[in-house]
Amino acid sequence: MAEDAIDNPLRAAVAPASPEIGAQGAGFGLYLHWPFCAAKCPYCDFNSHVARHVDHPRWEAAFTREIRRAGTLTPGRALDSIFFGGGTPSLMPPDLVATILDLVRRTWNCGPELEVTLEANPSSVERGRFQDFVQAGVNRFSIGVQALDDADLRRLGRLHSVREAIDAVATARGLCERVSFDLIYARQDQTAESWSAELAQALALEPDHLSLYQLTIEDGTVFGARQRAGKLTGMPDEERSAALFELTQDLCGAAGLPAYEISNHARRGAEGRHNLVYWRYGDFLGLGPGAHGRLTRSGMRFATLAEPKPEAWLAGVEEGAGRQETTEPVARSDQAAEYLMMCLRLREGASVARHAALSGVPLASERLERLADDGLIWRDGDRFGTTRRGRLLLNAVLREIL
Ligand SMILES: C[S@@+](CC[C@H](N)C(=O)[O-])C[C@H]1O[C@@H](n2cnc3c(N)ncnc32)[C@H](O)[C@@H]1O
Ligand code: SF4
Repeated sequence: MAEDAIDNPLRAAVAPASPEIGAQGAGFGLYLHWPFCAAKCPYCDFNSHVARHVDHPRWEAAFTREIRRAGTLTPGRALDSIFFGGGTPSLMPPDLVATILDLVRRTWNCGPELEVTLEANPSSVERGRFQDFVQAGVNRFSIGVQALDDADLRRLGRLHSVREAIDAVATARGLCERVSFDLIYARQDQTAESWSAELAQALALEPDHLSLYQLTIEDGTVFGARQRAGKLTGMPDEERSAALFELTQDLCGAAGLPAYEISNHARRGAEGRHNLVYWRYGDFLGLGPGAHGRLTRSGMRFATLAEPKPEAWLAGVEEGAGRQETTEPVARSDQAAEYLMMCLRLREGASVARHAALSGVPLASERLERLADDGLIWRDGDRFGTTRRGRLLLNAVLREIL
């Protein structure tokens, strides 16, 4: 058993104990997508758009209709988390967030533990707005800081400075106990020394949750085009990226924020519950343009995908009859593969029995043994998971297992 398996607070506390618990036992979340941003960042391929005018009453009516429709599909279910993602949901009028949350509370069974996260961009939040979001029922913020270097923030196309980002984190923390922020590393010309100093500065802010993403160059983005034209210089090669990943794990681990998922670090108990629903392959509704969902109904699991274009999504919702969304049953073998793709991102790993219950076929144990011998996975009774090195090489691990 690798050391990862031994000190894993998540496993003991909340790991699903048996395959029967399945998707229902892994939690139930609601994702709402707000597709607008003040500017498009050159690295970002999220479904986000810059609009001159947003018709807020029309969006309110559409979300209201969607929540009611989703409520009829999942009557009486207990909701664990809500996530306003984007785009930039901190651009939403706080009273729209309040209206949505009121309706959500009347639609599902929401306990006092309900986690309500809103993604915020430091350019679109000041104290008054944060306060209004908290008043509306938001109890967790996830702030897109991205870099603690002004020159790099400009290169990333961000509209805020380091000072404004740090102030946004402080303001949010003054109003709300649970605040996370995002940083992007493995950026152009970034050295181990500069990232180490930047991460130390981030950790000195004493966050209890951090999302640390390696910069990925996506097709269809400005950075993607620049790279194809040979003009995106100073990007790290695989070896330097791996070294930066290792450094990140070491520094965060030493600061008491070990990774509980490839890119997510938290103090014990401060893990984001919403994303844990995805990674544990639980059920979640995805409402809003381009949102994905996974839902178990009548013993079957369905994948939903909403129309991505904001205007077409609105028109589809207004037409009714689920016009804005496709719904497909997920084959058992695909469920089993998705389960592993999600759970193996997590330090707590996966259950052999739940995988077998999903796929109907046991995992090839000689493959697991080979991966364990190579130090890429750990095994402990019914559970197995990726080691730190295995998480870095997750695609290769999945290829071998699947
Ligand atoms: C929806 S955004 C967060 C909220 C807000 N839109 C913002 O940018 O401040 C989600 C996060 O994904 C990360 N991200 C987006 N594109 C990325 C890329 N190409 N490489 C690495 N991280 C990326 C950023 O850290 C970003 O904060
Ligand atoms: S990173 Fe955030 S602010 Fe930038 S385009 Fe993407 S969603 Fe919008």
